[in-house]
Amino acid sequence: MQHDKVLILDFGSQYTQLIGRRVRELNIYSEIHPFNKIPTNLEEYKAVILSGSPNSVRGEQALHPDLSQIRGMKPVLAVCYGAQYLAHFSGGEVAPSNTREYGRANLSFVKEQEPFFKGIASGSQVWMSHSDTIKKLPKNGLLLASTNDVENAAYRIEGEETYAIQFHPEVYHSTDGKQLLENFLVDIAGLNQDWTPDSFVEETVSAIKEKVGHDKVVLGLSGGVDSTVAAVLLNKAIGENLYCIFVNNGLLRKNEFESVLNQYEGMGLNVKGVDASQRFLDALAGIEDPEKKRKAIGRVFIEVFDDEANKLTDVKWLAQGTIYPDVIESVSATGGPSATIKSHHNVGGLPDFMKLKIVEPLRAIFKDEVRRVGATLGIDPELLGRHPFPGPGLGIRILGDITAEKVRMLQEVDAIFINGLKQWGLYNKVWQAGAMLLPVNSVGVMGDERTYEKCVALRAVESTDGMTADWVNLPYEFLQKTSNEIINKVKGVNRVVYDISSKPPATIEWE
Ligand code: XMP
Repeated sequence: MQHDKVLILDFGSQYTQLIGRRVRELNIYSEIHPFNKIPTNLEEYKAVILSGSPNSVRGEQALHPDLSQIRGMKPVLAVCYGAQYLAHFSGGEVAPSNTREYGRANLSFVKEQEPFFKGIASGSQVWMSHSDTIKKLPKNGLLLASTNDVENAAYRIEGEETYAIQFHPEVYHSTDGKQLLENFLVDIAGLNQDWTPDSFVEETVSAIKEKVGHDKVVLGLSGGVDSTVAAVLLNKAIGENLYCIFVNNGLLRKNEFESVLNQYEGMGLNVKGVDASQRFLDALAGIEDPEKKRKAIGRVFIEVFDDEANKLTDVKWLAQGTIYPDVIESVSATGGPSATIKSHHNVGGLPDFMKLKIVEPLRAIFKDEVRRVGATLGIDPELLGRHPFPGPGLGIRILGDITAEKVRMLQEVDAIFINGLKQWGLYNKVWQAGAMLLPVNSVGVMGDERTYEKCVALRAVESTDGMTADWVNLPYEFLQKTSNEIINKVKGVNRVVYDISSKPPATIEWE
């Protein structure tokens, strides 16, 4: 690949991926690597960014990168922990802060006319999130900017192209954060802004052609953005040698299988729809435990996919819609393995026995880039704007055991909710929405009759990547109308509640 690259060294901050995305938004290619696994081909990176961290440089668990091949040799931007690290271990001083240094603050420049602050006015809002503060700058440190509470908010090191900032330019609340990154990467480090969706498509198509040649490739479509964009890219590269399989696990949204299949055929993809609903329902019968359900759905998916792939002769490759966040090696703040909250069945791919080589055309890009690439490829904006939907589908939104009747009920509820969001112009303002069928019966009255029926919960969240989420303040009138429509139209449901929990602690899916 012939692009200038930025190396982002991760110290475990929740914002590290955001740094990567902001850099990519500037049409500059970036890679994220753990701070203790610095790539050996360092000469390929034209600049380095050090991320924040939940750790303290003062603690026993301070993270120590080996910067001997980096500092003074390439432009470095140190963010938050990075800035404290440079200070603490190079003759400066870091101490716990006395005042609360979390949230918005405003910069005042100590040195005007710094190229680092080009196009940014004094008073610019930045986002702080730290509990230590830099008391004394490191050797050769030159103060560039302060805020009301943080004296050493930005500095550079004389004699090096090293810049350090206590705030987070990657967060949207830092109003000029993107400009600051551009100043550093383009003006100071001299990187080219040539990483565009068009260049990605062109290079990926030729890389696929070279890698796969005239071999046949099989790909599992899910109806989601990633697998669709991967399929269209492959189709552009190898045409009819791409065989797509779209499995109906019986846990899709109402009419989803038929409508998405039609859409795929309209896009010229060579796609086979396989209705395996009954097979999934049979395997799920009587299972109540969420993890066992996920495992059962994952297992049957592999069996069905394998059966179909075996009907094709001479297939050599399996294509997957893996994206960059699935690939980035994460840094655990405590040094130990992070806990498995839920097993996502579609991460990790298919088992070895399929003996296929893997091709993953989206492996290098983030979700927002997948959408940009999809738009370049002419994919319908409605498809690209679809909310995320989990692989196990409604199976993890039906609490307790799964039956065909419960699936039907939830599909109806979900369709009323989602169509309502679309009609009210709310769908695109929400990151993800769906309904859960609860294993709860409650008493109601309809006409003069007593009812004892199911309760459903509606959930709508805002998020950037699903890792954290806030519930959405949907208009009362909308909730009122939706609740009425659900109770009037969906037989078996007599109560609707709205989930007002954020993540953490509540996950987005209930199972
Ligand atoms: P949670 O429930 O963990 O969900 O807060 C975060 C995001 O991941 C989706 N999700 C899944 N996606 N397979 C998927 O493809 C899964 O097994 C799975 N479980 C959760 C969820 O819909 C949300 O967008």
